Amino acid sequence: MNIPILPEQASLGAREVDHLTIALCILTAFFVAITAGPILYFAFKYRRGRVVDRRHGPIKTLRFEVTWTIMPVILALGLFAWSAKAYFEQRHAPVNAMEIHVIGKQWMWKAQHPQGKREINALHLPVGVPVKMLMTSQDVIHSFFIPAFRMKQDVLPHRYTTEWMVPTKIGTYHLFCAEYCGTDHSRMIGTVTVMSKAEYEQWLTTGEQAESPVLAGARLFQQLGCSGCHVGSNVVRAPQLTGVYGSVVPLQDGRSVIADERYLRDSILLPGAEIVAGYDPVMPSFQGRISEEELMALTAYLKSIGQKEGGGAP
Ligand code: CUA
Repeated sequence: MNIPILPEQASLGAREVDHLTIALCILTAFFVAITAGPILYFAFKYRRGRVVDRRHGPIKTLRFEVTWTIMPVILALGLFAWSAKAYFEQRHAPVNAMEIHVIGKQWMWKAQHPQGKREINALHLPVGVPVKMLMTSQDVIHSFFIPAFRMKQDVLPHRYTTEWMVPTKIGTYHLFCAEYCGTDHSRMIGTVTVMSKAEYEQWLTTGEQAESPVLAGARLFQQLGCSGCHVGSNVVRAPQLTGVYGSVVPLQDGRSVIADERYLRDSILLPGAEIVAGYDPVMPSFQGRISEEELMALTAYLKSIGQKEGGGAP
């Protein structure tokens, strides 16, 4: 079902979001009707000057009280369960999802494809392929919004957020920034083009070609000197990073963390925050020394040498 006031449904899950919205609207309308309706009716019936029976009516029974309490509770919990299911499905990207890096800045969207191709205020996607967006902001809070996919996710500075979807329909759709982010917020818009897999492959080869994030990350890993300590060094004892991504890392303070993108990012920028158990806090911070693109490239490289079969961070 596609209601004309709603945007097109162009992703897996869009239909469910719509059904949920419609169900909420119908329920809300129902409860407005059965509460506001009698209020209006009684206001009319018992208006001043009208001759009516104004004695108190019969006291309600326990059965009546229990019924009207239980029914809405069941309805509310049912809606909660339904939306929680939809939410969890939207949160957890499949491990094989193609990863696109998105950086928001005043006032544009920059995207980079796994093969290296970059684009600005545009996003080209193959139809039917699960895509995961790894997103961050270079300055203020933005919000990545594709109405046709029913996806909207805040994009925050100093932090990664993710979102995933499967485009289901070839076509061109709107891309918005949905968080007021300054003077030209309303111009921070673009297009999403969903194309066939073959057309997407073809598109990747057009225009300016760039190094893939994984290759760029591998290069940076050498250039920034990460490999000096993290690869078989006997001068400085540093954790080896092969297989780290997606694993559980025990920390010095007794906690354990999952080595997801957040962990990799923070370990590079705030190396003193989560020291791996058994190691000394000797790593320098790279805060202010590398760009968001470079960080994402390093993260992509560390993931490429760390992906465990069937595992992976959420
Ligand atoms: Cu970016 Cu509004």
